[in-house]
Amino acid sequence: MGYGIVFFVTRLLLKALYKIKASILVNEEKLNHFLVRGFMEMVVFRVNRRFEHEIKKAETASCEIVDSKVKMELIHEAFFTIFAILVGVLKIGIVIYGWTTKSLTIGEIAALITLVENAYVPIAIFNVCYVQYKLDLVAYSRYTEFLDAKEDVLLTQGVKIPGLKGNISFSEVCFKYDDRKIFESLTLDIEQGKTIAFVGESGSGKSTAVKLLVGLLHPHSGHIKVDGFDLSKINLNTYYENIAYLPQEPPVFDGTLRENLIFDNEVEEDALLEAIRNVGLADLYTKLDKGLDTLLGERGISLSGGERQQLALARLWFSKANIIIFDEATSAIDNLTEEAVMKNVLDLLSGRTIIAIAHRLDSIRNFDNIIVFQNGCIVEQGKFDELIERQQYFYELYNRSNLYAGSK
Ligand SMILES: Nc1ncnc2c1ncn2[C@@H]1O[C@H](COP(=O)(O)OP(=O)(O)OP(=O)(O)O)[C@@H](O)[C@H]1O
Ligand SMILES: [Mg+2]
Repeated sequence: MGYGIVFFVTRLLLKALYKIKASILVNEEKLNHFLVRGFMEMVVFRVNRRFEHEIKKAETASCEIVDSKVKMELIHEAFFTIFAILVGVLKIGIVIYGWTTKSLTIGEIAALITLVENAYVPIAIFNVCYVQYKLDLVAYSRYTEFLDAKEDVLLTQGVKIPGLKGNISFSEVCFKYDDRKIFESLTLDIEQGKTIAFVGESGSGKSTAVKLLVGLLHPHSGHIKVDGFDLSKINLNTYYENIAYLPQEPPVFDGTLRENLIFDNEVEEDALLEAIRNVGLADLYTKLDKGLDTLLGERGISLSGGERQQLALARLWFSKANIIIFDEATSAIDNLTEEAVMKNVLDLLSGRTIIAIAHRLDSIRNFDNIIVFQNGCIVEQGKFDELIERQQYFYELYNRSNLYAGSK
């Protein structure tokens, strides 16, 4: 019966402990988030005098962690107190029973008390382990929830594609973020080897279209096909061997310049230097004491926004991808450097499919096709000069950016 009571009490306490453990995990995540954000966005917070607010939020999270941990400790101690009382009551019961009924000798009473002691110590230890195991399970299941995200299935399953030519088609693609419809019926054909630009105002859906194309988002209806393969059926890992994606804020890894260009692949030094020259980083390179072995990132030198983008472009010299996507990948590079660098990049990538999202409309003058987005719809497409001559939405966009007026 003793075992039963202990088990029953443990189950009751576990219910309370689960909630407390979940609250600790949530608040630890919040605290980490505020600390990382505070560090990364230090300048913004400092200039906007937001530090006090941020510190308060971090303090609230840490107070909740402390409160929850204290609660947990109290419940733990309460359990052992109840347990000790139970064992004490049992021992007194044995003594009273032996005394009143005169059915037990002192030796037998002492033996029974020792038995109770010896029987309950392992239960207490087992109980501690059991509770700890159950609570660790809560933490583990949060971790596996993250690892088992749906996308993982598509990364490893599906049709393996050996190589891609780079033909892309969107047919009647509908996509929503929760309840917010972005594309009602997006239809678009991109021929292999062509240079394509996506343009349009902020929020018109350009990056969303690209995220659908790289399989980060999935259409609610309609199809996206690459070389005739339906994207929802192909093995994304093999797909990613064939595409390169350059975001507006490309990552710089903690490591040397060489590692940042080619990871752990082996490439001749001359080829690396050629890539560095082609993206306009030759001047910077001559100032680096350790050349290709210079450390970048947190423990090394930190690159400016434009230099980060140039570094990301240099990685293309070592990529075999046949579909290359630029999502405002040159926005931080000054106009003159951008023009020279993009000429080199486009020469390098000649014959491969290029999709570039651009706000500086002058940079896409020579593209094969410009697709103009407005509120999730393609409202125009064609070559730069045709669109300007047509004097419709693209013309308006171009004039608004003052570039057309300035260049006339
Ligand atoms: N994760 C998201 N959840 C909800 N809405 C989103 C999400 N990402 C984007 N949106 C919304 O979808 C719309 C299209 O966003 P998208 O990023 O595709 O625009 P964009 O054309 O790339 O704009 P920009 O030129 O500013 O980069 C925007 O109104 C945006 O607020
Ligand atoms: Mg965008």
